[in-house]
Order: sequence, then C-alpha cells, then structure tokens
Amino acid sequence: MRTRAWAGCLGVLALVTAAGSAGAGQWRDGAELYQKVCGHCHEANVGPVLKGRSLPPEYIQRVVRMGNRAMPAFRPTEIDDATLADVARRISTGAVLARE
Ligand code: HEC
Repeated sequence: MRTRAWAGCLGVLALVTAAGSAGAGQWRDGAELYQKVCGHCHEANVGPVLKGRSLPPEYIQRVVRMGNRAMPAFRPTEIDDATLADVARRISTGAVLARE
C-alpha cells in the first residue's frame, strides 16, 4: 500500500515536471492544483492532512517553495506564484475542494 502510494507520487512529480517545462500559468486555479498534485499525497496518508488546520497561507507557500524532508519543493516554473497563493488560501480556509 505504502509502496503503491509512493509510486503514484513519483508519477505526479513526473507530471508536474513535464507541465513545468511548458511554462508558468498552466493551472486553472488552486483547486485544480490541489486535486492534481497536493491531493495525491495529502489526501492519501503520504503527507499530513492540511485541511481544517487553519495553517497560515504564508507558511503553506514557504513549505511548497522550500520543501521539507519528504515534502518536495516546487519551483515557480512548476507552480506559478498566483496559483500557489490561491491554493494556500484555499487550504487555509478549508475551501480547497469547494466549487466556486
Ligand atoms: C510527493 C508527495 C507530496 C506532494 C505532491 C505534496 N506534498 Fe506536502 N508534504 C508531503 C509530506 C510527506 C509532508 C511532511 C513532511 C515532513 O514533515 O516530513 C508534507 C508537508 C506539507 C506541509 C507542512 C504540513 C505541516 O503539518 O506542517 C504543507 C503546508 C504542504 N506539505 C503543502 C503541500 C501543498 C500545498 C502541495 C501541493 C502544491 C503539496 N504539499 C504536495 C508530501 C507531499
């Protein structure tokens, strides 16, 4: 189970890298980013649950840019600043999967 989750994550990373080479601005919004990237780990017990914890958006953005142990760092070419700010806001307020 754990091995399979990790294999899935590697696939996600490959996907993000490929998308990154296409340049910034590839995400519709933070909800799409969360579903396609963050959720693969953070909704699958690979990473800690993020929703409903009122984590400060500044903290979330810093972790995504810097990485932290098993949490990969993402460059601006992979996740542009606007989408990162949007996903951080959504995670912080718990509205990450809400449709707008
Ligand atoms: C490859 C799996 C993976 C992906 C993809 C991933 N994360 Fe993580 N994330 C982790 C793991 C594992 C940790 C725990 C790191 C540690 O503390 O050792 C973590 C930690 C975090 C933390 C810190 C949580 C805390 O309790 O302090 C935040 C915030 C975070 N991730 C946000 C994100 C966001 C936003 C995305 C999408 C852009 C994302 N992560 C994508 C695996 C992932």
